[in-house]
Amino acid sequence: MAIGIIGGTGVYDPTWLHDVIEHVVDTPYGKTLILEGRIPHESSAVFFMNRHGLDHSVPPHLVNYRANLFGLRSLGVERVVATAAVGSLNPDYGPGTLVLPDQFLDFTKSRAHTFHQGGPTGVVHTDMTEPYCPDMRTIFATTAVQQGMAVHQGGVYVATEGPRFESPAEIRAFRMLGGDVVGMTGLPEVVLARELGLCYNTLALVTNYAAGISPDVLTHQEVLDVMAAHVQHLRSLLLDTVPRLTESSPCSCHG
Ligand code: HPA
Repeated sequence: MAIGIIGGTGVYDPTWLHDVIEHVVDTPYGKTLILEGRIPHESSAVFFMNRHGLDHSVPPHLVNYRANLFGLRSLGVERVVATAAVGSLNPDYGPGTLVLPDQFLDFTKSRAHTFHQGGPTGVVHTDMTEPYCPDMRTIFATTAVQQGMAVHQGGVYVATEGPRFESPAEIRAFRMLGGDVVGMTGLPEVVLARELGLCYNTLALVTNYAAGISPDVLTHQEVLDVMAAHVQHLRSLLLDTVPRLTESSPCSCHG
């Protein structure tokens, strides 16, 4: 089973892949750059892309999520793992904690959020009962624990429009709604993956306590610094887990 990795903030470096080939995939939604490579001792291809572009120049609200997901699927990817930097709403999830969400709350506003526009293909309503693959989540959680990472299996990912950070009042409201972590890129990515019948999971790394919970003002530099301090953990988690994902039996995500 071919695996796609969407590298979020701080996860840009594809040098852990060997025999890399570049694909510029032309999709109905625009072009997207996807690298194909292999990890050591593993024969299956891994497809890797940077969500924010090679130089982190694309902000969350301008990412071409549809081209990215469509491009991955057109290269034969069936399972997608996305990394994301997130703020924590939960005092128990400190910086450096890995959260594997099982639910989301969508507060994005201005994004192309669906492949389904009616017309000849009709009206489509995609089920979101299990947006994040439970099988993949278990595999990631088990490997992360074996590697000694602080990990929480399950949690509610709150997606905001950005690119600004949230106000403390918004964070208090999200907390009351059950949110655990907040980020700007998880939606519509997960929804588009599910619309394409792709199996999808997010590795959400807490880089900061969210606005108003943190005693300090938030900066993007803080997010980058904490991500840089933990990127090696994410990389070794991916290296150990990808072979288990390619071998594991198909899950129920494929529509
Ligand atoms: N809010 C939104 N997105 C984020 C945050 C945050 O606090 N930290 C990292 N990405």
